[in-house]
Amino acid sequence: MGDGISDYTKNMVDLRRHMWMAGVEVELRRLIWQIAVVGKYISAKIHEANRKLAGFKNIYGEDQLSLDRSSDEILKNQLQFSGFVREYASEEQEKIISIGTGSEKYIVTADPLDGSSLVETNLAIGTIIGIHKESVLDTGKKTMVAALYMTYGPLITMVYSAGCGAHEFVLNREGEYVLAQENILLKAKGSIFSPGGLRREWLPDHLKFIEALEKDGYKLRYSGGFVPDINQVLIKKGGLFTYPALQKSPQGKLRLLFELQPMAFIMEQAGGRATDGRTDILSLKVESLDQCSPVYIGSAAEVEMAKQYLK
Ligand code: AHG
Ligand code: MN
Ligand code: MN
Repeated sequence: MGDGISDYTKNMVDLRRHMWMAGVEVELRRLIWQIAVVGKYISAKIHEANRKLAGFKNIYGEDQLSLDRSSDEILKNQLQFSGFVREYASEEQEKIISIGTGSEKYIVTADPLDGSSLVETNLAIGTIIGIHKESVLDTGKKTMVAALYMTYGPLITMVYSAGCGAHEFVLNREGEYVLAQENILLKAKGSIFSPGGLRREWLPDHLKFIEALEKDGYKLRYSGGFVPDINQVLIKKGGLFTYPALQKSPQGKLRLLFELQPMAFIMEQAGGRATDGRTDILSLKVESLDQCSPVYIGSAAEVEMAKQYLK
């Protein structure tokens, strides 16, 4: 006979237990867990902002930071005292910030809140994190050791990879991240596509590629939130997300360090690929924090097909 709650927790694979069983190094798994916890606070902020939209006032009558800024603050404060992070690079900060004592093992990159313009529409948004051991700028080396993202939608979910597969967790009502899918594996070819940028600004080769997908019967799935759009490709086990070079912005819109490389890391761990059209996203040298890149990310067949069209 089981004894209720303890029986329940005994059989539950939560994030900490999963990382321990997967053999993730102790400091890295503590860091990943601390970052995942931040998801709860960010989602509480989103909730608060939505209450304001519905006419509720901040009880203290204070000026509120934007959601992007407050998410950044929450994350930075958490990492500051984690004991594992020496540098913090965020989309919301102009420079890389030194935190901790300087002798900590990891450097963390963050897009604290991606897709914040979608908050008022009540669509899903997210947080994207990269974890590195070495300096993230100008090295041309692959420095990432883990990546994760959270989605704030009807449920809060979290996908992480520490280099041994990609795994999905769902935050339950008790506040635990519970394993939903272990070792997510993309099919070689999917059936959905998610193309960013105005069609009239696409370059001719990209247009031909998208027309080929349309002819092949791919279904359009674009929410305008990078995290949920990528998450859809991953959870549906295939398909393609792209934000291409545009006539007026040859490097596209999405940021290499904060957005593309962490997602490329996770996608590759799930058997997918990510390229700028020629070079793997993870092999691109990051020279500045705000560097952007075109991206084609998803299952192997579509990414290889994109490369053929863009040659
Ligand atoms: P922002 O950083 O302004 O919130 O932009 C969100 C990003 C990303 O989430 C999404 O994939 C892309 O912008 C959507 O851009 P378009 O509106 O140009 O499609
Ligand atoms: Mn973003
Ligand atoms: Mn952002």
